[in-house]
Amino acid sequence: MPQKPKTFRMVYMDFSSARLEEDLRFYSEIMGLRQDGQATADRTWLSLGFDHHNLSFRKGDNSGLEAVGYQLAADIDLDSMAKHLDAAGLAYTRKSDARPGVDELIEVEPIGGHSVHLISAISQTEGTMTTTGVAPLRLGHFAVASAEGAAIKRFYTEVLGFHRTDAFGDVLDFYTCNYEHHVLNVVEAPTAHRLHHLAFQLRETGSHVNAADLLARDSKPIVWGPTRHTAGHNIASYFQDDSKRLVELYTEMDVYLPDLDMMEPRPWHEEIPMRPRRWERGDVAHWRTKFAVELSQF
Ligand SMILES: [Fe+2]
Repeated sequence: MPQKPKTFRMVYMDFSSARLEEDLRFYSEIMGLRQDGQATADRTWLSLGFDHHNLSFRKGDNSGLEAVGYQLAADIDLDSMAKHLDAAGLAYTRKSDARPGVDELIEVEPIGGHSVHLISAISQTEGTMTTTGVAPLRLGHFAVASAEGAAIKRFYTEVLGFHRTDAFGDVLDFYTCNYEHHVLNVVEAPTAHRLHHLAFQLRETGSHVNAADLLARDSKPIVWGPTRHTAGHNIASYFQDDSKRLVELYTEMDVYLPDLDMMEPRPWHEEIPMRPRRWERGDVAHWRTKFAVELSQF
């Protein structure tokens, strides 16, 4: 039987921001996230409309990723997760009331540059999902480049039980803890730890057009895409926010079936069954479109 991941979704990402006002304006007015709760201490919490928050920002000297929060599978509580981390020899802290909407969490000490939070639950907002601006459905995945890439990969696969779905060359690996092809990309790079991109799922593929129109009006051109990727086969558009973070908007992500170790078949797959595989480095556009910039430039 395939392993069962210990988490089933990414819930939130915490950022520092050297351009806090600009980031809050953009993610509120243009992306459509809401500040339902009060800012606490130095941090502002933004929600897509279901979880108490999905993004948070605080003023900082640089615009980096500080923490990522994952929700534990229903049959794993924080006590059993703590024992599991003890057995793996990992350092962590248990915190109560450390953030609004989350009673208790485990904070795993950073591997690479950001810490990992493990939560059992997050309170839900009352009302509806956002329908203003770009109005993404979900915060879907992120990609990091790190000199500690090998340690990050070991943590996600051996400790959290993520599945590896695909790879580019021998440097970039895709991982998932749910039905989507990837929740995380890790690039082993001889650089300091950095976020390569964060990604939101849009409502439907036509939503890329509306998003691009809104972004153009806000002086944020699409820098790569829209195109269909090879690995994951998602339709993807990329732009940069005010802090120069690369942001991906996507639809039609491959659905991973761990029991069959394959992607649910799609007409655009290069092979059927489409199993986890290693792609040639740079072979990222299924439509073979050549863009003026390489994604690896960012
Ligand atoms: Fe992505």
